[in-house]
Amino acid sequence: MELTENNQPKSEEVEGVQIDPHQAMIDELKEKRSQASQGGGKARIDAQRAKGKQTARERVYKLLDEGSFQEVDALMSHRHTDFGMDQQRFLGDGVVTGFGKINGRRVCVYAQDFTILGGTFSEVAGQKVSKLMDLAMEAGVPVIALNDSGGARIQEGVHSLDAYGQLFWRNTQASGVIPQLSVIMGPCAGGAVYSPGLTDFIFMSAQTSNMFITGPEVIKTVTGETVDFETLGGASAHSATSGVAHFVGSSEDHTLELVRTLIGYLPSNNAEPAPAIVPEDDPNRKDALLNRIVPADPNEPYDMKEVIIRIVDTGSFFEVHENFARNALVGFARLHGQVVGIVAQQPMYLAGCIDIDASDKMARFVRFCDAFNIPLVTFVDSPGFLPGVVQEHGGIIRHGAKIVYAYSEATVPMVSIVTRKGYGGAYLVMGSKSIHADLAFAWPTAEIAVMGADGAVNILYRKQIQEKENAAEERKRLIKEFREKFSNPYQAAKFGFVDEVLIPEETRPRLIGALELLRDKHHTRFPRKHGTMPL
Ligand code: HXC
Repeated sequence: MELTENNQPKSEEVEGVQIDPHQAMIDELKEKRSQASQGGGKARIDAQRAKGKQTARERVYKLLDEGSFQEVDALMSHRHTDFGMDQQRFLGDGVVTGFGKINGRRVCVYAQDFTILGGTFSEVAGQKVSKLMDLAMEAGVPVIALNDSGGARIQEGVHSLDAYGQLFWRNTQASGVIPQLSVIMGPCAGGAVYSPGLTDFIFMSAQTSNMFITGPEVIKTVTGETVDFETLGGASAHSATSGVAHFVGSSEDHTLELVRTLIGYLPSNNAEPAPAIVPEDDPNRKDALLNRIVPADPNEPYDMKEVIIRIVDTGSFFEVHENFARNALVGFARLHGQVVGIVAQQPMYLAGCIDIDASDKMARFVRFCDAFNIPLVTFVDSPGFLPGVVQEHGGIIRHGAKIVYAYSEATVPMVSIVTRKGYGGAYLVMGSKSIHADLAFAWPTAEIAVMGADGAVNILYRKQIQEKENAAEERKRLIKEFREKFSNPYQAAKFGFVDEVLIPEETRPRLIGALELLRDKHHTRFPRKHGTMPL
């Protein structure tokens, strides 16, 4: 464009029509924006839709509040020429980055655009995402990544690898500073899985997403195993078996809705409190059914999820890792409008025993809540760590230690309630008073002891029982005696290990009162670089 002496655009006359130079500049920009918004073109967008997937921009618009998305770096493109790359230059270069709002709260978001070179991660993608993450950390807002990519862009060689390195480094720096959410909406293969793996929560869309380090072909070559994409790394494999994914959406829209819901419980950063809402539920509500929810028979299961749902603000329990290690329960909820993290055992699975997966699930959740100032409420009903060679050889010692470590390190308000079995290690590690819970409650049904009556009697009285003629009767008598003495909350309450024995229906008002007291809890630690948590 020609300029005047004052550097102003010169008006032009084309075929007798005067062209407005300012309008021409705006039109040029609009044209570029329109080009950028077309991703890799109609054919690739059609192919994307045919796979049941939406485009990157469609996803971003659905995720964010209407009209709130502000894109940045839409005009960046790569500088590479080898392997025909000069013929494949698209504005935006395979990732849409920007910021917007979810229910009025600020977030940064990036969405890989599979229609551009398979959404592959490139030098430019790395620059764009790194810039966005720096922005998010400065602004103190969560980052949400919508992943749909063939991984590192092969044509750009080490530049693509560096791009991932830059992202991994930032994921680590941002850890515990701002919440990081990864949403898998297509393939996520090779080293690409490590960015989601470093973030706080992973969502997967059923049927259309998968995650794996090495794909079916490599596995076939190396180990001889035959496996398809879905079985290997689909949403159900990762939500139920590996525990890599925390949430599964039945469709892309449902997945994005789950992301919006989770954001509603999270603070924007580690210096802010989690978002409270005006409470609608009565803080003094007493649910009489709780008084009878624990069966009289100590071996009969009951649903701990129902206990939680009846105590927290109505409709507020949002479970995390629902399908993984179901013998443990973790999730967010509200008590009198304030966000809390719930950790519990589920007697309906493995009698609530703590195994390797449950240890990882609970420890990780406790650490997230502690990093982001979310108070912890723990419901305990566990007969102990799961016995067995598989568990021992799988490293239950190392994994179980994570729970003790996570609770012992946590400085947020912590209140625990033993509803039934609190035996040995399982009692201690679950936010007990001894590892510095602020307040420990128990229900009258609680049994706090080194171990269950059967096991204890076997160890203490084996000889005595064997010597008796009526051994079975004697065993029964001793178990009864032991239960009367130790299988109740009153020994623990007598010595102050339990602060109060509650009638179960009192739990909600008591919890709300306790957390109100602890709202401004402060805690100082010995200075250290960081602990050496057993990983
Ligand atoms: C460059 C790639 C690519 C890649 C896909 N494409 N992956 N281009 N680098 N890594 C291109 C394809 O050539 C194609 O281009 C377009 O993206 C769409 O891919 P299709 O194969 O047609 O799509 P689909 O059939 O849906 O299969 C998707 C896919 C498959 C499953 C992701 O493309 C695939 O397996 N890609 C390789 C996945 C992988 O192994 N990634 C790991 C890379 S190594 P056209 O022009 O035809 O549309 C890695 C290491 C990182 O990531 C290390 C970091 C620490």
